[in-house]
Amino acid sequence: MGTLTRQAALKTAARQSLAGKAAARAATTAPARSRRAMRALGGENVVDLLIRQHRQIRLGFLRAALPGPWRRRNFDRLMRLLAVHEAAEEAHVHPVARRVLRHGRELAARRRAEEKHAKELLIALWRTGPDGAGYLRRLNEARRAVSRHAAREEREELRALGKAVSPLRLRMLGTEVKLAQAYAPTRPHRWVNNEATNKLAAPVLGPLDRALDALRRRGAS
Ligand SMILES: [Fe+2]
Ligand SMILES: [Fe+2]
Repeated sequence: MGTLTRQAALKTAARQSLAGKAAARAATTAPARSRRAMRALGGENVVDLLIRQHRQIRLGFLRAALPGPWRRRNFDRLMRLLAVHEAAEEAHVHPVARRVLRHGRELAARRRAEEKHAKELLIALWRTGPDGAGYLRRLNEARRAVSRHAAREEREELRALGKAVSPLRLRMLGTEVKLAQAYAPTRPHRWVNNEATNKLAAPVLGPLDRALDALRRRGAS
């Protein structure tokens, strides 16, 4: 082997060794970084997080039915929780279920159809508002549809995800859901009902809804 060829071979070996070290460093630091981020955000398992939110939603429906001066506040809280909960599921949870679960496509399609139906009822409820005629009837219709949907989601999708996905991935998904909920739209939007539209719409509709919420709160005080 001539001198030039030997030098070229040595350079290539050194480059490969550096690239290998960098890859090894990335592999060890990336999970460490995500673990740190998860700790900062709570890192709650996505299944526990969504089931806990389902309980809050059921309670929210009961509170929004109570008469008195707190009805508007309870109604606003319920609509906001429902909007951010469903937006994060549509954008981050159903797509994973579709990919990893047996019959995931059919399961995710059924959940989306239920969510679409519930969204129609929630839009009607939102337009009626807590002071409108027929409020309690619409609230009850939406409560029944949302409760049935949440029960099926827990039984058919979330428990299966809990078994099919690693604990670390479940916690990462919980963090993704929390982040998505922090800037998701706060009211139901008819055409925002799947992964793509949620991811596209959230950066525009999220801040817009929140600005309108702030204006309404200022007007009410
Ligand atoms: Fe859902
Ligand atoms: Fe849900």
